[in-house]
Amino acid sequence: MIHYRNAVIKTDSSVYEPSEDSFLLADAALSEIKDSERLLEVGCGSGIVAAVIKANTNAKIAGIDINPDAAKCTKENGIDAIRGDLLGCIKGKFDMIIFNPPYLPTSEEERTGGWLNTALDGGCDGRRIIDRFLEEAGRCLDVKGKLLLLVSSLSGIEEVKSKMEALGYTIEIKSQERFMFETLAVIVATKT
Ligand SMILES: C[S@@+](CC[C@H](N)C(=O)[O-])C[C@H]1O[C@@H](n2cnc3c(N)ncnc32)[C@H](O)[C@@H]1O
Repeated sequence: MIHYRNAVIKTDSSVYEPSEDSFLLADAALSEIKDSERLLEVGCGSGIVAAVIKANTNAKIAGIDINPDAAKCTKENGIDAIRGDLLGCIKGKFDMIIFNPPYLPTSEEERTGGWLNTALDGGCDGRRIIDRFLEEAGRCLDVKGKLLLLVSSLSGIEEVKSKMEALGYTIEIKSQERFMFETLAVIVATKT
């Protein structure tokens, strides 16, 4: 069991174990949510970020994850969740979409397969899933909707910011923290 900011969740051995990145994103989301916004968490994993939001705000949050064990774990932790690949099967619009993506630069040889690899593997430059997500996300955001995206220096924070700007978002670094091997940041990108 993991306890964090009034939330208590169970985890699963085939689902990403909540880590510094999960907690940084959860804290950034708490300080960004103002009222009863409609939120979607992509790549919800165990459901830790969504559970923290549910325990501390009036926001309505649901999750989606490509790993069926993650969608199940999130549901067992009290959050509506479905299995799906990024936003492909999402029909509605949201005030905020949050994502702690797989971002580790991973070559073909380093790829191990399995759901824990899927949770980490960002392709050769670390941005394979991030880039796909950014290209799809605008369609699912309401007017003035926001993306909260966790990014790492390992996959290039400046490159992600540039892509967001090119897609027409206004961006702000919400929080940033230095860890042993990387700097993690949460970018808030507002649809203009
Ligand atoms: C770094 S983990 C984050 C998990 C959780 N949100 C957290 O912060 O602890 C990334 C998550 O994204 C999911 N994921 C990877 N590729 C995905 C895709 N194409 N569509 C949906 N989810 C995906 C993984 O299964 C994993 O649960």
